[in-house]
Amino acid sequence: MFKLISGKAIAQKRQEDLRLEVENLKNKGVTPSLRVILVGHSGPSEIYVRNKKRRAEELGLDFELIRFDETVTEQELIASIESLNQDQTVDAMLVQLPLPKHIDEEKVVQTVSPYKDVDGFSPINFGYLWQNNPNVIPSTAGGIMTLLEESEINPASKHVVIVGRSNIVGRPLGALMLNADATVTMAHSKTKDLKSITKQADILISAVGKAHFITADMVKKGATVIDVGMNRDENDKLVGDVDFDDVSEVAGAMTPVPGGVGPMTILTLMEQTIEIAKKRV
Ligand code: GUN
Repeated sequence: MFKLISGKAIAQKRQEDLRLEVENLKNKGVTPSLRVILVGHSGPSEIYVRNKKRRAEELGLDFELIRFDETVTEQELIASIESLNQDQTVDAMLVQLPLPKHIDEEKVVQTVSPYKDVDGFSPINFGYLWQNNPNVIPSTAGGIMTLLEESEINPASKHVVIVGRSNIVGRPLGALMLNADATVTMAHSKTKDLKSITKQADILISAVGKAHFITADMVKKGATVIDVGMNRDENDKLVGDVDFDDVSEVAGAMTPVPGGVGPMTILTLMEQTIEIAKKRV
């Protein structure tokens, strides 16, 4: 039987618990605070950040969006992060990626204090994750693990195939799946005969960023398919990487776009902001 995995419903269910946690912390004099740095006005980042802001405000967090023009220098950006590192009223921060080409993304990510790095992108937090001793973890990867847990799909001993090896999703998800005892294959743009690999997946995750990338002939019957893509199709409609109508004929369970992984990313970000703030109690 086919199961639609609604990230939206799971995130809503957990939202009330989080709201109560924030209320509890506020009663103890701690309001979790999150700062998001956004450079420029690219469409997808604007949408992601708008959603983060809305959810943070619904939960009663102290949220501030720090905007820079596309022309900001690397030095200015780094100075702003350093000032947030020092600011005692700030629990957590993230720099929305991607950044304009003239800024060294790696250098920026390395400037964020590992104690405030709510995205888990700093080399220290990445290292903890790969040592199976996670501290803060990247939100999309973490959100996917929660999604599977809530859907009672245990990756242990399953063959998990991840398509896409970005630092934001593919790589950290590979570590989390390995930590959860899955057998992991990480496929990417240089992988040969991708279809023969994706066909072996008990759990197939696509984080590629191309509409219609995963088709029904690439999926094993009954597999779980998680779609991380956020793309515009030829009619400007928001779609994932997976050809939903075709693949849902073959898959056992699947996430939709929108309403699948996206809400789980934001939920995880809020959970981790609250966890960091709890250290102040
Ligand atoms: N760009 C796309 N996804 C993310 C994310 O989870 N965090 C940040 N900082 N940038 C992103």
